[in-house]
Amino acid sequence: MNRFENKVCVVTGAGSGIGQATALAFAREGARVLVADVNVAGGEATVNQIAALGGTAIFMSVNIAEQQQVEAMVARAVAEWGRLDCAVNCAGVTGGVSAPTHEYPDAAWAQNVAVNLNGTWFCLKAQLAQLLKQGGGTIVNIASAAALKGHPNNIGYCATKHAIVGMTKTAAIEYATNNIRVNALCPSAIETPMIMDGRLNLRNNPELKVKFTNDQAMKRMGRPDEVADVALWLCSDQSSFMTGHAMTVDGGMFA
Ligand SMILES: NC(=O)c1ccc[n+]([C@@H]2O[C@H](COP(=O)([O-])OP(=O)(O)OC[C@H]3O[C@@H](n4cnc5c(N)ncnc54)[C@H](O)[C@@H]3O)[C@@H](O)[C@H]2O)c1
Repeated sequence: MNRFENKVCVVTGAGSGIGQATALAFAREGARVLVADVNVAGGEATVNQIAALGGTAIFMSVNIAEQQQVEAMVARAVAEWGRLDCAVNCAGVTGGVSAPTHEYPDAAWAQNVAVNLNGTWFCLKAQLAQLLKQGGGTIVNIASAAALKGHPNNIGYCATKHAIVGMTKTAAIEYATNNIRVNALCPSAIETPMIMDGRLNLRNNPELKVKFTNDQAMKRMGRPDEVADVALWLCSDQSSFMTGHAMTVDGGMFA
């Protein structure tokens, strides 16, 4: 399929995991991709993989928690390629610790708010302004299963992911008649560095890995490309009547 031929796409968090898979998937379908991440090595690796496929991508070091950097990201896509058609806002953090709410560190709360909440807000604001100027486009915000239910021992993550769904639905309604669609994805456990090496460290915690595996009805974790495929579909004309969704990608977990 070449659904994104000549389209310009921005993917945040594209240096790893779901964002990297999304950037690669866009490039495979002909898009020009701005790969944004704070992780320079990861972002450059994504661009190199896209180049190896014969695709077109540039890397930009962007901390989404900094509004000026986010504005510069959108401006760079427009400066390079004249427009912005699709954005997948994938960059996110967990806060790095597990603790019940009364002991949850303020620093972890602040990190979740800075990146997941403020960062997604800055992205949405800058991207919507550009899409409005052009007369349309699509945005997909990567939320989480933790956006739809409680997430014990990580209230900061849970609260900020819930907020992403609220922002998604609000923007979806506001711009529904402007040819702009805004949706969210809510993945369950997806095998990426975040879950394998980060806060949960499933790579070194086989018992917890079994639990997270069995949470899905399919009794496996998802792959980054399985989330990327849905993100691309939500960005494509094939989902033209869909906006304001908080769609699970969860191997049947919520069922
Ligand atoms: N892996 C899962 O099980 C899972 C489940 C539900 C939701 N998610 C969400 O999916 C998204 C991608 O996660 P992943 O699993 O691919 O994790 P990951 O850690 O592999 O990738 C996240 C990327 O975001 C980047 N990033 C972090 N903070 C940033 C910032 N301030 N500015 C720019 N980039 C930043 C990181 O450098 C990293 O490259 C996140 O929003 C995460 O919350 C993941």
